[in-house]
Amino acid sequence: MKIILSILLAFTALFAAKAVEVGERFEDSQKCKACHLHIVKDWEKSWHAKSHYESDEYFKATIDYVSRKTRKSLNSVKVQCATCHNPRISVTSTGIDYEIMAVMELDKDSKVNQALKSDAIDEGINCVVCHNIDKIHSDKDESFRGINRVEWTKSGTMTGPYDDAMSPYHKVEHRDFMDNNSDQLCFVCHANDRAVKGLVFTDMQSEYKKSDKGCVDCHMGPKTMGVAATLKLDNGKAKKREIRSHGFAGGHVASMWEDALNINARQKGNDIVVSISNPQPHNIPSGFGSRELLLEMVFKKGHQDIGNKSISLTRTYTSKRDKPTIPHLAVKASEDLSIPANGKKILKVSNEAGATSVEIKLYYRLVNDEVRSILKLKDPIWSDKSFIASKTLKLK
Ligand code: HEC
Ligand code: HEC
Ligand code: HEC
Ligand code: HEC
Ligand code: HEC
Repeated sequence: MKIILSILLAFTALFAAKAVEVGERFEDSQKCKACHLHIVKDWEKSWHAKSHYESDEYFKATIDYVSRKTRKSLNSVKVQCATCHNPRISVTSTGIDYEIMAVMELDKDSKVNQALKSDAIDEGINCVVCHNIDKIHSDKDESFRGINRVEWTKSGTMTGPYDDAMSPYHKVEHRDFMDNNSDQLCFVCHANDRAVKGLVFTDMQSEYKKSDKGCVDCHMGPKTMGVAATLKLDNGKAKKREIRSHGFAGGHVASMWEDALNINARQKGNDIVVSISNPQPHNIPSGFGSRELLLEMVFKKGHQDIGNKSISLTRTYTSKRDKPTIPHLAVKASEDLSIPANGKKILKVSNEAGATSVEIKLYYRLVNDEVRSILKLKDPIWSDKSFIASKTLKLK
């Protein structure tokens, strides 16, 4: 037992990522407000700022469920998820030793519990996650993500897109992955998301069709003229710069969905052939498992509704006991029904007898019915439908 335990500990130490402490002057976004207030305000609205157990109902419910079903301590699961969700955590893995302490309730003053309570992580993915990345190991195995894919700068050195910036508050260094190669920065976490048992349920990197636009062009918006810092260092004025928004708007922002996909339809014999095309360079849905597209069709005779059809394009997941489960506990996933990057999907739906027209509407939902009910999610945002596109077809 002793030998096994020490081999296990050595193993976790070997693969554990190196945490670098963030000094108090840089730890949270409050410290950046004096000179980057506009950026902090944008970021506060983003879901990067909500990536924490206490800030995102879906994330919390998933952690609770994984802990219960795997009989692992809640804190060990939190540390595991912190790899991408809270990467400035000071403890990067937990071993058998911690599990034993947790069961015996001797973990109160442990490093793990301290790390999870620290202010360094309660802002989720904040400024010093992205801007303290020194190196990205894109050569590492696909499964190394988040903390395990990066090295941190020394506390107080901010990496950024400019090569001529100067700041009295912190050191600055230019990095390619903040500038013309920023997809690599996003792929540190937005790739190879996998279940506890290894099933990869989302992988934006492998499906990505590289184009002239990068992730930042669409999710941080186009470059506009403004200021990076409001400090008046340039002959008594703030320096003019090309900047982007830090809002990272995505699936949670309903207005982003309008026209994200296109639909077309035609009648062929007794069928309506619906084609959904995706002009975006990644699949949709794709960001996380259990996202859903809903195709709703209303058949009409004149002005009267004579029938409805609703088709769900989503993925469902099954556990090793073959029961419905959440992505993180899955060993198997149903067929991938997402619309491929720069591609399309064609659906055939049978016509309703006597119909003279059909109204087709496409929506997006953050969580499908199955996972929403397993996790008992309450906030309406998880079931609200975001409108994408519609089409009306006259029938013969
Ligand atoms: C998810 C990663 C990420 C987070 C979190 C993040 N940034 Fe950035 N930031 C970037 C990227 C990428 C750019 C470069 C954008 C470009 O020019 O293409 C950037 C650019 C900047 C710039 C240069 C000016 C500009 O707006 O383009 C400043 C200053 C900056 N960030 C400060 C901050 C501060 C302060 C925070 C916290 C409130 C923050 N960033 C959070 C990724 C991030
Ligand atoms: C006292 C003012 C001040 C504070 C506080 C401050 N910064 Fe800056 N920062 C600046 C100035 C000035 C620049 C350079 C702006 C320019 O050259 O256009 C800058 C530039 C940056 C850049 C871009 C660097 C590059 O090379 O592209 C990043 C990223 C950044 N700051 C992040 C932060 C973060 C994160 C915090 C909070 C932990 C912070 N700053 C706090 C003044 C400040
Ligand atoms: C350190 C890991 C990490 C990095 C680096 C990162 N992200 Fe994220 N991102 C996340 C996590 C985790 C979430 C989800 C947080 C939540 O919902 O609680 C997220 C959420 C998002 C969302 C919102 C998705 C939605 O459905 O609403 C967008 C958009 C996004 N990220 C874009 C980017 C872009 C663009 C980059 C690169 C400039 C980037 N991210 C870099 C981890 C990361
Ligand atoms: C040409 C524009 C474009 C580019 C480039 C792009 N996206 Fe998107 N992305 C979209 C649109 C449009 C949506 C759907 C509406 C929304 O969520 O913003 C979307 C959705 C998302 C979502 C939510 C997906 C879901 O199914 O829930 C995430 C996460 C995301 N993108 C991340 C990324 C990352 C990371 C990159 C770079 C690897 C990237 N995007 C590149 C346009 C783009
Ligand atoms: C490989 C990096 C990575 C790891 C490790 C990871 N996540 Fe995530 N997670 C992400 C990214 C990136 C997103 C954002 C995708 C999006 O919103 O489309 C995300 C989104 C989520 C969401 C959706 C949140 C929302 O608001 O819609 C949940 C729930 C979630 N993760 C749970 C977990 C749990 C629980 C763990 C640990 C067992 C975990 N994640 C580990 C990268 C990761």
